[in-house]
Amino acid sequence: MTKSFIIAIDGPAGSGKSTSAKLVAQKLGYLYIDTGAMYRAITLLAIEKNVLNNADDVIELAKTSKIDLKYSEGITQVLINERDVTEDIRSKEVNKFVSPISKIKGVREALVKKQRILALNNDGIVMEGRDIGTVVFPDADVKIFLTAAISERAERRVKEYDAKGISVSLEEIKSNLENRDKIDSSRETSPLIKAADAYEVDTSKVTVEQQVEIILERVRQATAKRE
Ligand code: DC
Repeated sequence: MTKSFIIAIDGPAGSGKSTSAKLVAQKLGYLYIDTGAMYRAITLLAIEKNVLNNADDVIELAKTSKIDLKYSEGITQVLINERDVTEDIRSKEVNKFVSPISKIKGVREALVKKQRILALNNDGIVMEGRDIGTVVFPDADVKIFLTAAISERAERRVKEYDAKGISVSLEEIKSNLENRDKIDSSRETSPLIKAADAYEVDTSKVTVEQQVEIILERVRQATAKRE
């Protein structure tokens, strides 16, 4: 079996990971995986089952739940235990609790295991998250780390909510992003950090097309190296 070609895209919320990861996957015909959706799905279950304060129960949920990500026409449908939670995992409540839940070591171990399995049997994958290039696939063929100014990231999120007809204030979004950045970057297990060999792109300084082209160029270079 040939080894899958893995493109790891990491960065904070709103840095443009989903937008560029989806387009790169589409251009290359690779599988696109949004790992944030997995942490969100477990957080949603923990809220519903009222176990947010019981780490062992949350770990059990992460170990035993079946998470499916079905991507088609620009949208990742997220299913947990066969239930469609695509919309529910983007709620304000999930936004609030997802970072504390993602800090739990056992939750991370369970989800990282699922993420590695997803890469098997696929020629190529584009996986986005916080720890893909550092922990999930430290040997990824291409590692990208996206950044953008907090004001820009918050504005992007407000626009996404607007498009869905949900009214949110810029301040509320900004404070949620700052809070998540802080927890995600300072946690003990696999914090959000740039892998030493990742290529950093500030997406406030380039267009989406340029972002995608930068990643595709790294892919070309890595492919040439492999051959
Ligand atoms: O990408 P996102 O904003 O949907 O991710 C939601 C949260 O999930 C994020 O604030 C931290 C967590 N997460 C993580 O800890 N590790 C990942 N690989 C992906 C997401």
